[in-house]
Amino acid sequence: MKTENTVWHSHIVSKQERAQLKGQKPCLLWYTGLSGSGKSTIANAVEDLLFQQKRHTYLLDGDNVRHGLNGDLGFSDEERVENIRRISEVSKLFVDSGLIVSTAFISPFQADRDMARTMLEQGEFIEVFIDTPIEVCEQRDPKGLYKMARDGKIKDFTGIDSAYEAPQNPEIHIKNDELSIKECAKQIVGYLQNNQYI
Ligand code: ADX
Repeated sequence: MKTENTVWHSHIVSKQERAQLKGQKPCLLWYTGLSGSGKSTIANAVEDLLFQQKRHTYLLDGDNVRHGLNGDLGFSDEERVENIRRISEVSKLFVDSGLIVSTAFISPFQADRDMARTMLEQGEFIEVFIDTPIEVCEQRDPKGLYKMARDGKIKDFTGIDSAYEAPQNPEIHIKNDELSIKECAKQIVGYLQNNQYI
């Protein structure tokens, strides 16, 4: 019975409750790889498969985020570090909301990827290495950027005159030049199933 002493308890909805409602274990698929390696394409294909399974997802994509939130950042080492720091913070919030989050950024430095990992809870961070040889990326050159870098028209281009540190121990290792996009996406969704994220 409600009396004047009955108080309304404001209930703080927890991450676990949000996740439970969605019927999934929130996590962050952190795609890393060279420009043109296929990160965005594969991340989109994975999101598509998850969506078909009625999973709740969100994808943060390098080129899009650099138009808005990180529109003030260039490609010096310091600016790439800041780029990844902001993405990590945003991703953490999205994971907290109960989603299966994907980020598709070159994220060339291991220390920054490790920083993102430490910001999340155990098991939430899944490093996905899109391992495509630079020769293949350069041959694809979807945006013509490798050619511009070779011609000296762009500076600090990853793999040409800026470093890329390949992951040593990624949770998921994708050899994109040997598999179709669909096969790559299935491998990643399979990982989520085998490890009870979905
Ligand atoms: S990161 O190194 O800071 O993680 P991010 O993934 O956000 O890079 O952006 C990479 C995208 O920016 C590339 O796919 C490419 O389209 C574009 N880009 C423009 N200039 C450069 C550059 N100097 N090095 C790498 N990518 C560049």
